[in-house]
Amino acid sequence: MKNIVCKFCLITFLGLVLLSCSSKKEYKITSPGKNNELIFSLTKMGEPQYRLSSKGKSVIEPSLLGFEFEGIKKMTEGFKVIAVEENQSDTIWKQAWGEFKMVRDNHNELIVHLKESEGEERLVDLIFRVFDDGLGFRYSFPKQAHLNQVRITNEITQFTFPFDHDVWWIPVHSENSYYESFYRKTAMSKTDTINTPATFETKNQLYIAIHEANLTDFASMTLLKTTDRQYKSELVPWADGIKVYTQTPFKTPWRTIIVGDKPGDLAISSLMLNLNEPSKIKDISWIRPSKYIGIWWGMHLEKYSWGQGDKHGATTKKTKEYIDFASKNKLDGVLVEGWNEGWDGDWTADGTSFSFLKAYPDFDLAEITKYAAIKNVRLIGHHETAGATKHYESQLEAAFKMYQKAGVNTVKTGYVNKYLDKKEWHDSQYGVRHYRKVIETAAKYQIMIDNHEPVKGTGLQRTYPNLMTQEGGRGQEYNAWSPDGGNTPTHTTTLAFTRMLAGPFDYTAGNFNFDYKTASGARVQSTLANQLALYVIIFSPLQMASDLPENYESKAEFKFIKEVPCIWSETQVLDSKIGEYTTIARKDWEEQNWYLGAITNEDARKLSITLGFLDKGETYQAEVYADGPDADYKTNPYPVVISTKVVDDKTILDLDLAPGGGTAIKFTLLKK
Ligand code: NOJ
Repeated sequence: MKNIVCKFCLITFLGLVLLSCSSKKEYKITSPGKNNELIFSLTKMGEPQYRLSSKGKSVIEPSLLGFEFEGIKKMTEGFKVIAVEENQSDTIWKQAWGEFKMVRDNHNELIVHLKESEGEERLVDLIFRVFDDGLGFRYSFPKQAHLNQVRITNEITQFTFPFDHDVWWIPVHSENSYYESFYRKTAMSKTDTINTPATFETKNQLYIAIHEANLTDFASMTLLKTTDRQYKSELVPWADGIKVYTQTPFKTPWRTIIVGDKPGDLAISSLMLNLNEPSKIKDISWIRPSKYIGIWWGMHLEKYSWGQGDKHGATTKKTKEYIDFASKNKLDGVLVEGWNEGWDGDWTADGTSFSFLKAYPDFDLAEITKYAAIKNVRLIGHHETAGATKHYESQLEAAFKMYQKAGVNTVKTGYVNKYLDKKEWHDSQYGVRHYRKVIETAAKYQIMIDNHEPVKGTGLQRTYPNLMTQEGGRGQEYNAWSPDGGNTPTHTTTLAFTRMLAGPFDYTAGNFNFDYKTASGARVQSTLANQLALYVIIFSPLQMASDLPENYESKAEFKFIKEVPCIWSETQVLDSKIGEYTTIARKDWEEQNWYLGAITNEDARKLSITLGFLDKGETYQAEVYADGPDADYKTNPYPVVISTKVVDDKTILDLDLAPGGGTAIKFTLLKK
């Protein structure tokens, strides 16, 4: 795969306007298609503020901008505008992998250079990029005499809405430290501090998502409710209360506001990716999206154990059996958890016992990787840290080096603990620095990363395409042990418009057996057809077939999992309603066949889908995996009817989704 191809590039510098005094009151910039308008101004007190509208509707009302620091004067007021720049850019770049092969970055940019009118005359620039699907803005603090090392104590960036809108949100840190919550919809006034992406269904008929892009050496932004219709950026602190330690020159991550008319507009936006830097990895030939199975679900079901003993899952024998299964079914990888020293006892309490170099005696890494190579399968490595990041970092280089030597090209990492190193949040600057170190070190050893218990995604996969996928959401594992019974059907119908706005999710769909018993009583709450549809709905360039291999043997539905791609040249979100149903069509990376996934919440639903996304003038064989008679996620999840039909872009398909159900379709291009 080629890294970045600039099909056509147009970057126009429209000019730097030097202003002798802040004579002008407002600085306006519109998006290329003129639908979104950003206005920057200073208040009478010299406070920077912005507002945003979309097709004449107010998105963000005047909202203040600025930062406060420890020990020095805050930079929130007393500014004048000393210069402005306007630039245009319209480029197309190729993704290493993704939901689209080519991405267009078409925006207008306004850079406002501010200086304090009095005193130390400190400088800050505000950079706004307005796209047809929203706004990104960031602060840039240049190197300067009176601002050097700083300790940020508060970001005051506000997001003021015209009304008390409804918002889909998850809480910050109160339920867990890594975003594993159900998204819930309430009025803004009923929230306090919420995570991003936060998705708003507005009273003026817009869909808006607030998030951030390119989170680099900074704290994550959460949103603190300040009034019934306003949030402000609340940076996740270090244990000592400081939000960010930094030094000029520095730039903040981009604050992003995606705006659309329907939920799907948010889901297909590339704004976050466009605000990240191009790939730093020059040769990406070793980065390969793939499908995998794993010695994993068995541990969550307590059939196997991570630690040593009779039930130890990660044995050479069992791994070879999994490799045989993967090879037979043309799956690329086998994840094995619990292979290394450190799992015995309560491994979640303290990760300092983990060795990332020493295997348990019944796991022979050399023999396994040799066997895997013969079978054309890769072992997927595993590093659970239980949050002991310093301990992990002390072995990082050696561990990746060892894996690379053994031919392991993907490693799943994990950070199960409320804190990192017993006191820092996963999404603090401390965590952000650690995760970046892992991605960069992995790249050095040509290793792809699947990061569980991560800091939320902000589009870094553009810069580091070896950051394949992350957890950072309530995944399938909750269906094994969650005391609340597992993921509700509603949950998966929210994801495309909430969690997925932060990038790929290693949800690990593919459950085929619903009759397991666990102490918690949790169960997969969906039909089998719904599990298939999730491979289209939830994007991840590494997709797991998560069930035990024995549950796939001789199941006709397994064909869909084997065939469904995990990266796409094109994506379209069809009729969808957040928390009720989602329908997504995607074309494979090779630009041949299309796939469709439709899922519903607890309610049965009939959907009528016009196949207008199919290529005009072509015919396709549709292979439909639909909920069968009497299918119901509660009482009868198994029935799937598989049928075929010749279709084209004019065909209307009627889908009949069971409660908690779904439909998965492969459209194979018929040769003329
Ligand atoms: C948490 C991960 O999310 C899960 O997938 C993994 O099995 C456990 N950690 C053990 O590492």
